[in-house]
Amino acid sequence: MKNIVILISGSGSNMAAIVRTAEQAQWAQRLNVRVAAVISNKAEAGGLAWAQGQGIATAVLDHKGFASREDFDAALRTEIDRFAPDLLVLAGFMRILTPGFVAHYAGRLLNIHPSLLPAFPGLNTHQRAIDAGCQFAGATVHQVTADLDHGPILAQAVVPVLPGDTAKTLAARVLTQEHLIYPRAVAAFFNPQSA
Ligand code: GAR
Repeated sequence: MKNIVILISGSGSNMAAIVRTAEQAQWAQRLNVRVAAVISNKAEAGGLAWAQGQGIATAVLDHKGFASREDFDAALRTEIDRFAPDLLVLAGFMRILTPGFVAHYAGRLLNIHPSLLPAFPGLNTHQRAIDAGCQFAGATVHQVTADLDHGPILAQAVVPVLPGDTAKTLAARVLTQEHLIYPRAVAAFFNPQSA
């Protein structure tokens, strides 16, 4: 069985979408793939309890307990590798990763970013799209490279920016699309024919 490990920092709705799709689309039987663990850098991340309720192994590694980014990433890597991941999925994991960490998972590390990359890497993507007068916004699934919010694009979803949109209303519209494209991109990683 191949293992997916998912990293979260917050509500974990993308993680939940992947877990639900894995169940509904029978990834274990069809793709020989399972979500083996969900790991968070925040103990209060809402998605952790949900994942536990699904019978998925969870772990917390608080970055505040480490002196440097390198130390945290080294400990995180040890925690992740306990689950022998074939694919590491960043799902709202709000940490900048060190080049050594990214290199260790090269070719098996995906991220979802709430903008149409290469537009708006970094934070506050929805407000920046509104401020720029964009008529469309969206989300991007991409392979992670050492360059923040760059790397080969695997999937994108586009939504309109509507009159009166706030960062909050736009984020909600984009998020519904994230929940569709991320599970699809993960399935396609294991079976390109499933895309
Ligand atoms: C998602 O919108 C995701 O694209 C974004 O955080 C949110 C997490 O929501 N990720 C980033 O901003 C990464 N730089 P979730 O915890 O409900 O999946």
